[in-house]
Amino acid sequence: MSQSENLQTKLSELKAQALLKMSEAASSPALYNIKVEFLGKNGLLTEIMKEMGKLSKEEKPLFGKLVNEVKTALESKYDETELVLKKSELDLKMAAEELDLTLPGYPSGRGSEHPVGKVIHNIAQIMGRLGYSLRQGPLIEKDYYNFEALNIPADHPARDMQDTFFIDKTHVLRTHTSPIQIHSLESETPPLKIIGVGSVFRCDSDISHLPQFHQIEGMYVDRKVSMSDLKGTIGFFVREFFGPGLKTRFRPSFFPFTEPSAEIDCTCPICKGKGQSNNIGCSLCKSSGWIEIGGCGLINPKVFAHANVEYPKWQGFAFGFGIERMAIIKYGIEDIRLFPENDVRFLRQFES
Ligand code: PHE
Repeated sequence: MSQSENLQTKLSELKAQALLKMSEAASSPALYNIKVEFLGKNGLLTEIMKEMGKLSKEEKPLFGKLVNEVKTALESKYDETELVLKKSELDLKMAAEELDLTLPGYPSGRGSEHPVGKVIHNIAQIMGRLGYSLRQGPLIEKDYYNFEALNIPADHPARDMQDTFFIDKTHVLRTHTSPIQIHSLESETPPLKIIGVGSVFRCDSDISHLPQFHQIEGMYVDRKVSMSDLKGTIGFFVREFFGPGLKTRFRPSFFPFTEPSAEIDCTCPICKGKGQSNNIGCSLCKSSGWIEIGGCGLINPKVFAHANVEYPKWQGFAFGFGIERMAIIKYGIEDIRLFPENDVRFLRQFES
């Protein structure tokens, strides 16, 4: 047998063997291994081609053509076999992973409103019945709105009452919601009944203070507004919010933006003013029977002047409460830091 005939026989044997093996392949990875064995870089076909050097110049191209034909035939056999195998493999997989659409889903816990949000909505709802509507303002305030326009000039000692976070020389994180009063006086025309609400910031943190907390602010501006209007409004609010039968009292106090000013106390909602519950001293009101809930007063004419509102044609009152403090009193919470921690065991107790 000539070299050429010898190689041709080897080639057709290789072809037959490869075709047989491919048709018997049990899986697509097995099929791939067969492809590598025969057609791979170091495969059997390459081995045969290495022997081409032994052929004559005339025989080489002829044999090369034969090799290419075998290669193409094996590749197309591979492709069609792969298609069939992959399809049956996919069918098997689909059958094994059948979805049962009737299975129940995973239960997802239902969220509830944060107690701070609850108090805000509750207050807004009560005051809404008296005709007050909500306003918000920027958290970063100009010094002017947080202090100056509220009659707290630079170097005024009242600035020390509020441990201020400064952004730069003229901007602060608002230390109270009172700047909302100024924004409203500047942009709206009296008569006004507004509730300003939102986060406020003070450089302070312990069991009863947070560096970020919430306030709610009420402002009423009309032609004739007196301390008794204020007292009546606060009394109504306290009874609606904490419960019927509670009394309120005003203690003289000082705020630069109100004159006269008062601190608001109400009957302790825990001991109902008795100073003790279950024969032990009430820890919330420290046995005094009264609890401080906020500040208030008649709007200082200097504030009206800053906002270009004519006084005494227009007069008004304002009051402010700390939301977390209201929640502490209403729900009997011991540590103010529970509010921002968002421990679900704490929050779950406020689900309604
Ligand atoms: N802004 C005051 C504070 O943060 C509360 C207040 C509001 C007092 C409105 C009087 C009138 O302490």
